[in-house]
Amino acid sequence: MIGKTFLPKSLFGRALLILILPTVLTQLLMAYIFFDRHWDNVTRHLSEAFAGDVALIIDQLKTIPESHRAKLIKDFEEDTSTSVNLDPPEAFKPEYATHEFPEFQEFLRHNGGEKFTVRKIDNNTTIEIRVQLPKETLRLETTVKRLESRTTVIFIWWMIGATSVFLLVAVIFLRNQIRPIRRLAEAADNFGRGVDMPDFRPSGANEVRRAARAFIVMRERIKRQIRTRTDMLSGISHDLRTPLTRMKLQLAMLGEKEGASELRADVQQMEHMIGEYLDFARGEGGEEAVRTPLRDLLEDVVRDYQRLNSKVTFAGGEMIFTSLRVSAFRRVLHNLIDNALRYGKSCTLTLRRTVNYCEILIDDEGPGIPEDKREDVFKPFNRLDPSRNIKTGGVGLGLTIARDVVLAHGGAISLETSPSNGLRVIIRLPL
Ligand SMILES: Nc1ncnc2c1ncn2[C@@H]1O[C@H](COP(=O)(O)OP(=O)(O)O)[C@@H](O)[C@H]1O
Ligand SMILES: [Mg+2]
Repeated sequence: MIGKTFLPKSLFGRALLILILPTVLTQLLMAYIFFDRHWDNVTRHLSEAFAGDVALIIDQLKTIPESHRAKLIKDFEEDTSTSVNLDPPEAFKPEYATHEFPEFQEFLRHNGGEKFTVRKIDNNTTIEIRVQLPKETLRLETTVKRLESRTTVIFIWWMIGATSVFLLVAVIFLRNQIRPIRRLAEAADNFGRGVDMPDFRPSGANEVRRAARAFIVMRERIKRQIRTRTDMLSGISHDLRTPLTRMKLQLAMLGEKEGASELRADVQQMEHMIGEYLDFARGEGGEEAVRTPLRDLLEDVVRDYQRLNSKVTFAGGEMIFTSLRVSAFRRVLHNLIDNALRYGKSCTLTLRRTVNYCEILIDDEGPGIPEDKREDVFKPFNRLDPSRNIKTGGVGLGLTIARDVVLAHGGAISLETSPSNGLRVIIRLPL
């Protein structure tokens, strides 16, 4: 549950997490132990030493005669690099008391009964200690380094810095390891959409290379299989054409004899079927994609139908340019419009633009296709009329061809219900 929601989805993110988490945790643990033990020890020792110094000068100031004071202060200042000043009694201000350096204050309190204040001055670089003596105020100033171990802070910065640099290096290397996997996914994706990536080469770690090689072998086998089948289909169709032509000739010579017209209709139908088989087997191979004004193309196709008095209308749309294999795409439109006219009696084309795509809608007013059959009709030779009665339509390749061509354009084709409860075919093309 938690893993599904919060863990990164990408391999890169996950690998990074696996890398960063232990590193950061180790560092935190180390830093904690270091602070807890080492830092405490160091501060305690520093505090104890300095508190001893302070107690010493207080003691001596109280006991030795006035005449020796100057020398005592000079010696003390030299030995401990602490500046010593004797101020008038009113210089002692209880409000200067702070809770800075608690260990030090604790030691100081133990060493003598005098009242004192400890605070930081000069931008926290200096410690000022004022002690109330019987006749004056003793003011000591020294650098905070006497009580704070700077090396600890430096150590932490080194740790963070070094870790960041190493992580950065790791991230760069990791990226390079992930790239071949991304490329493999892309190649598989493209192959699925019918876009060839001939320059795809296995690269990266051994395991990724193996997967890539397996993919290439699989791709070649699938291609070969498809080629064999379409070659066979187009071979059969071609071969059938010759006897069909001969039959047509003989029928023409028969003239208006009994049964000749039925035979003629059958031959015509067979020709039509063979035409469709050939369309399918031919695919759209070879044709180059060119930038085409989509609206003009649709208007052109619609006009062709209207000339034959078909109920096809164009509902309009924006001016959109896409790169198209024009004759293959025309064939798609013909297949879909023919379907709409045959099964749906009328047809409306609409062109519209969405964010990254343009959509062509082909609506009809027929019975539509039930939702559970909408995937099946795209399969080759699949028709909803189980009798396979050729009089009610084609051979069941129209939608198959349409999907092949649209996928090869990097687009998608789907079926929905039209506003008049008929079928709506949506062709989505990338802009
Ligand atoms: N506009 C439509 N309305 C209802 N059914 C349709 C429509 N278009 C296609 N179909 C169904 O989908 C099947 C497959 O269509 P298609 O691949 O073009 O083959 P064909 O038209 O050669 O039968 C058709 O046989 C028909 O049953
Ligand atoms: Mg059809």
